[in-house]
Amino acid sequence: MTSEPLQPLPSKEELLLHVGQLKKELNAVLLAHYYTVPEIQQAADVVGDSLALARSAEKTGADVIVFAGVYFMAETAKILNPDKLVLVPDEYAGCPLADSCSPEEFRQFRLQHPGAVAVSYINSSAEIKALSDIICTSSNAERIIRSIPTEQKIIFGPDRNLGGYLMKKLQREMVLWQGYCYVHEAFSEEYILDACRLHPHALLIAHPECREEVLRHAAFVGSTQALLDFTASSDASAFIVATEPGILFEMQKRSPLKEFIPAPKDLQNPRSVCKQMKQNTLEKLVQCMQNRKPEIVLPEKLRIAALKPIRRMLDLSA
Ligand code: 13P
Ligand code: SF4
Repeated sequence: MTSEPLQPLPSKEELLLHVGQLKKELNAVLLAHYYTVPEIQQAADVVGDSLALARSAEKTGADVIVFAGVYFMAETAKILNPDKLVLVPDEYAGCPLADSCSPEEFRQFRLQHPGAVAVSYINSSAEIKALSDIICTSSNAERIIRSIPTEQKIIFGPDRNLGGYLMKKLQREMVLWQGYCYVHEAFSEEYILDACRLHPHALLIAHPECREEVLRHAAFVGSTQALLDFTASSDASAFIVATEPGILFEMQKRSPLKEFIPAPKDLQNPRSVCKQMKQNTLEKLVQCMQNRKPEIVLPEKLRIAALKPIRRMLDLSA
């Protein structure tokens, strides 16, 4: 039996071209998070943090939204756009932080604190959003918390590190859900301090999902977008970046002459990576646009319930 000659795999350039054609055919907009691989960011119409991408999803005139990020981000886009087709390259690219907070446990959490306002991080499922009063992202969390009267009790979930950071910064008591992001939780004081000693000219900057033992040494703490803006406007020439290293692509693009050092996870691992964000590949992007699936589908009742606290957030952070 003679076998067919193997077809060469398409190159990155061919795949990028194909994505461009499919976007035109579908009248699609491609939204990508800063933590995706560089070639996905290159293919995207909008690259942003979770708040910017939610805003882009809210405003787009496209018929189809292709979302390269993690599941809750695409789900948020669908909540805001019930009549649009929302596609994801990989439906199994979920956020483990979001997935660690089950609706049953969160319902119990609420019941244990009657009268409290429930503020939930956007890194949560539609079910958790539907059980919450208002949503926040790391970009607008301070503003959202400040908008709540000081005498009002607050419960906050699911990220305990972001919650703890806000409590300290705003001098505000909150009851925290004990979830965390494995990528940011992995940074330890010991290895970060080693990196600071090794690169004394570099400023340490960190995402508030990092532990307090890391945050306390940072020259600047902020959301992915805030970190990016800080590096672009700072006079410093080098930065140790304690967040997901996907953002280094855009940081380097904006400041080609500056040095960006990914914060070390431990001696063997120079960086702590979000595996789920990296599940978005150009091949899967082409496939999902060709097949028009996987698609985000949500029961309408759940969508309407989850929309309310998202809308409150967007109105407050307009
Ligand atoms: P941003 O809101 O900064 O985009 O963060 C999203 C996220 O998943 C952080 O780990
Ligand atoms: Fe979730 Fe952390 Fe990955 Fe962000 S970096 S998507 S919080 S697991």
